[in-house]
Amino acid sequence: MFADDARKKDVKTPTIVSEIWHNGEFVKWDDARVHVMSHVIHYGSSVFEGIRCYKTLRGPAVFRLREHMQRLVNSAKIYRMEHEWTVEQLSKATTELVARSGVQQCYIRPIIFRTLDEAHPAFGVNPFPNPLTCYIGAWDWGKYLGDEAIERGVDVCVSSWNRLTPNSMPAMAKSGANYMNSQLIKMEAITNGYAEGIALDDRGFVSEGSGENIFLVHDGKVVTPPLSSSILPGITRDSVIQICRELEIPMVESGIQRAALYVADELFFTGTAAEVTPIRSVDRIEIGTGKRGPVTERIQKMFFEITSGERPAPGPWLTFVDEHKPATQESGNGFDAAQAHKVAEAAVAEAATASVNDNAVEPLSFQSVMTE
Ligand SMILES: Cc1ncc(COP(=O)(O)O)c(C=O)c1O
Repeated sequence: MFADDARKKDVKTPTIVSEIWHNGEFVKWDDARVHVMSHVIHYGSSVFEGIRCYKTLRGPAVFRLREHMQRLVNSAKIYRMEHEWTVEQLSKATTELVARSGVQQCYIRPIIFRTLDEAHPAFGVNPFPNPLTCYIGAWDWGKYLGDEAIERGVDVCVSSWNRLTPNSMPAMAKSGANYMNSQLIKMEAITNGYAEGIALDDRGFVSEGSGENIFLVHDGKVVTPPLSSSILPGITRDSVIQICRELEIPMVESGIQRAALYVADELFFTGTAAEVTPIRSVDRIEIGTGKRGPVTERIQKMFFEITSGERPAPGPWLTFVDEHKPATQESGNGFDAAQAHKVAEAAVAEAATASVNDNAVEPLSFQSVMTE
């Protein structure tokens, strides 16, 4: 009944880093354990990040490290997680972890969650009595949507599951619990032979993939749903928006109808795991020529040139692990607190505007997809 190999297939994981950062110390993989009665296991009380570290000629470089850590801190704030970890400490812990591991490239997973105080156990939904703990792990991870996906594109479906509503589970917080919704979307997609599912928001507008933001190209113009369509404020999404500016490709954030997906010239996903992945069909309807389109290719090319360090980024996007001190601004890389705050604040401002201003969620009608 099911394509069993597809259901069991996971992303290639050639290496797992043997140490894990835990609350300021490095512990061995085997020692990074939690109690089965921890609050997080029962009630999903975690917030986390996914960050990529790329191999460059200057050694391993973490992509948009501070922006990720700022989003982690924001996610924790939304869930009233009071902790002491700063963006600086978490960023430093990450570069130290990668440096100690000796790996050239990896995927990094910081997570803050509610655990169990064994001296004073608390089992109720109320999370406050349960202590917070923070871990950062890493592993080398292959192409999230398959080895050939980056060039050939993926076949996807529109999910029968809607994305979260903004006033039930905020999609702008990257919480572990949100990924139960993502799992429903992903399981349905792979069970039906697709690589990924696209969720609509509760009004029927396009939201995002189970673990990716989505972009549409029509008549040379790039369109992506706004935060008010219950999306995660993706850092790759923000990078692609900036890349469009660099390439002088017109770009707008706008509500997108499901039908607009089918008649788009090009579609692509963005995400830390998925990077920039073309979509070649939706619900078995071919998108454009059924291949990676020229706009997607230009954006993808620039994205990978930046992540590999071959081309300067529009901002300080790479943190070079081997250069213990922050890289200089002239190199266009290194720590930049102001930049991280700008991205996070822009996301918050956009979400705030959307909540009070209906125009910000003005749907892109079939007609307006077709014309300016
Ligand atoms: C639901 C969801 N949307 C979008 C994204 C893309 O976000 P980013 O580019 O920050 O990885 C992710 C990946 O983290 C995700 O899980």
